[in-house]
Amino acid sequence: MTNPLSEGQQSKVAEPCSLVIFGATGDLTARKIVPALYNLLKDGQLPSLFTCIGFARRPKTNEEFRAEMKDAVSKYSRTKPIEDSIWNHFQDHLFYHQSEFHEDEGYEKLKTTLAQFDTKYGTKGNRIFYLATQPNSFTVITEKLHKAGLIYEENKDQENARWSRIIIEKPFGHDLASAHALQDELLKYCTEKQIYRIDHYLGKETVQNLLAFRFSNSIFESLWNNRHIDHVQITVAEDIGIGTRGKFYENAGQLRDMIQNHTMQILSLVAMEPPTSLEADAIRDQKVKALEAIKPLKLENVVRGQYGKGLVDGKEALGYRQETDVNPESNIETYLALKIDIENVRWSGVPFYIRAGKRLPKKTTEIAVIFKDPPVNLFQNGTRKTPPNVLVIRIQPDEGSSLKINCKVPGPSNILQPVKMDFRYGSYFGTAPPEAYERLIWDCIVGDSTLFAREDEVFNSWKLLTPLLDNWAKNPPQDFPNYPAGSWGPKAADQLIEADGRKWRLI
Ligand SMILES: NC(=O)c1ccc[n+]([C@@H]2O[C@H](COP(=O)([O-])OP(=O)(O)OC[C@H]3O[C@@H](n4cnc5c(N)ncnc54)[C@H](OP(=O)(O)O)[C@@H]3O)[C@@H](O)[C@H]2O)c1
Repeated sequence: MTNPLSEGQQSKVAEPCSLVIFGATGDLTARKIVPALYNLLKDGQLPSLFTCIGFARRPKTNEEFRAEMKDAVSKYSRTKPIEDSIWNHFQDHLFYHQSEFHEDEGYEKLKTTLAQFDTKYGTKGNRIFYLATQPNSFTVITEKLHKAGLIYEENKDQENARWSRIIIEKPFGHDLASAHALQDELLKYCTEKQIYRIDHYLGKETVQNLLAFRFSNSIFESLWNNRHIDHVQITVAEDIGIGTRGKFYENAGQLRDMIQNHTMQILSLVAMEPPTSLEADAIRDQKVKALEAIKPLKLENVVRGQYGKGLVDGKEALGYRQETDVNPESNIETYLALKIDIENVRWSGVPFYIRAGKRLPKKTTEIAVIFKDPPVNLFQNGTRKTPPNVLVIRIQPDEGSSLKINCKVPGPSNILQPVKMDFRYGSYFGTAPPEAYERLIWDCIVGDSTLFAREDEVFNSWKLLTPLLDNWAKNPPQDFPNYPAGSWGPKAADQLIEADGRKWRLI
């Protein structure tokens, strides 16, 4: 019997191809990319004719690379223990290519290798180049690939059909001007259609489910507007501090690390109008329109913060300025709260409050939609306010959603109590959702760019946030650190929402 849950899935064909990972000895390859490939193979989703080539600088044999990747998969794969038969099949198609990113010779050799693989493994000239490197290498690699003739437009002609695609890791630029400059450089060597910009939040099952949730359930979509919704809260909380990422974070900060990409992606999916179809551009057109409708940010609607020393799980935790590789006088923000106004027919008058921070009391990402009060308060003798209905979509952990509704407490009085209807992916479907990287790599193999950020999405997000960065450059914060590690952020963030007569949700 076929599984009814898999009906309609995987109608796209994963064509034979070679995947080249630039930065193959790096952290991302070991923690995310190769474990994702292993699980795709295990689930029967990788094309049967497939090779993977790791490209990096340090000398290494194929055997050494395979052994390292086996260790990485054993450690980071979502399914354990790793099965030898599947791993052995995978490693027979896994290779290492040593070269510097800027050396022409390395790309000529890569070209020869890929052509040999086309013959030996039937990969048909189809290529994915995954740039899992620091952003300052994106352009040089693309230029060299182009120079070696490895980037070509998709040819659908039966005889010579072949394609090449480029996956680019975040961040895409560090402000609006640099994002434009990077895009201009890349477009010298490839087309926008060939670029797949990773935002791994978009690969998360719960983020994808937002579309199904909104547009396949008429009970929600008909309420999804300023007549029924009071406000929306988006929380992206991490309990961890900066750990060993001090060097990176000192050049990034919370706005660049979490808000510009993940949070704005979530916001645009919540706020967008219905697309005309589920085609990539139909969805992305609507996301861009939602971003375009956001009013320029007012400085008084922004709170930045940085964690100081505090208590986490009963243990003393360092302040940000004491972390490794962090300037002891750093003004980098580790927390941000924003109030965003979207000026269109659907959302005018409905604020979106966003908070995203490190060293908060727990790790959680959620969207909370808070509905308006009923027009007349019939219950509780009209004296106590009826608690609002709240729809919560949990992106991580405990993926799922819940709806808070009011219920009469049994007995003679008209006292109400909010109760929760709760849906959890894990318990309902009996399995945890796959890792975001699995879905995203598979989508790139089948040529579906829906879950990748298009250039105008990135530009619109930078356009909104770059004025803040410019202002901060001229006005360093005077009160950092302004929240203790393990707390819910600066007091000013509470004041931001309380000034409107609302409160952050207790999570
Ligand atoms: N790590 C994560 O969890 C994570 C999450 C989200 C996004 N990202 C993004 O993913 C990208 C990669 O991150 P990462 O943490 O994996 O970086 P990483 O650990 O610093 O790895 C960098 C890789 O690039 C190679 N490399 C650097 N310069 C080279 C050169 N001139 N020629 C050839 N190879 C060179 C290194 O090779 P050698 O080791 O041989 O020098 C290494 O394989 C970044 O854009 C990052 O922002 C990472």
